[in-house]
Amino acid sequence: MKAETVLLVAAALLVVLALAVVAWQRARSGDGEGGESALGTWAADDPQLGRRAYALCLGCHGPEGRGIAGYAPPLAQAPWLNGDPRAAVLITLHGFDATTEPGAPYYSSRMSGFHDRLADHEIAALLSWARQQWGNRAPPVERSLVGELRRRFAGRDRPWSPAELRAVVAAP
Ligand code: HEC
Repeated sequence: MKAETVLLVAAALLVVLALAVVAWQRARSGDGEGGESALGTWAADDPQLGRRAYALCLGCHGPEGRGIAGYAPPLAQAPWLNGDPRAAVLITLHGFDATTEPGAPYYSSRMSGFHDRLADHEIAALLSWARQQWGNRAPPVERSLVGELRRRFAGRDRPWSPAELRAVVAAP
């Protein structure tokens, strides 16, 4: 093979590789917005999806939902988790910071959101599951509600304060 031919083949291969990288990045950039999973590890119809997705929360909220004293609150009987589903969804999407609340229990860290890691159906399954664990008895969370709130608050990257959540819940 002539040197020019080798160069041409190499150049063609580079172009193909570059196109593949662009296509891959395009596919990834949709993640989180339309509700694609950034993890992609669970089947959407897995009946254990909620329990499996809780793996992302368990480091702080504990395997039994009891939290870690002084660090992260329990999810058993947690008021925001078990109340209006919109608050639970918004906390999961964008995080929670009650450190500004007068008289709020002190937790040494605030929680960051999962909007770029969990798809709509994953958040719905996870919260529906958690709202039925550890003595919790709250109704399931609809996937459509997660999508609606994700779109409504797209671009938000700060955790919610209790005052902000109360405003959303009071005036939907
Ligand atoms: C890095 C630790 C950490 C992880 C991981 C984490 N959280 Fe949290 N979460 C916290 C902390 C800390 C607070 C309380 C923040 C505060 O009071 O300022 C909190 C608060 C909450 C609350 C409000 C509790 C209430 O009063 O009702 C909910 C709901 C919640 N988390 C759900 C989740 C879910 C669902 C996941 C997994 C997708 C998760 N958290 C992952 C640390 C974490």
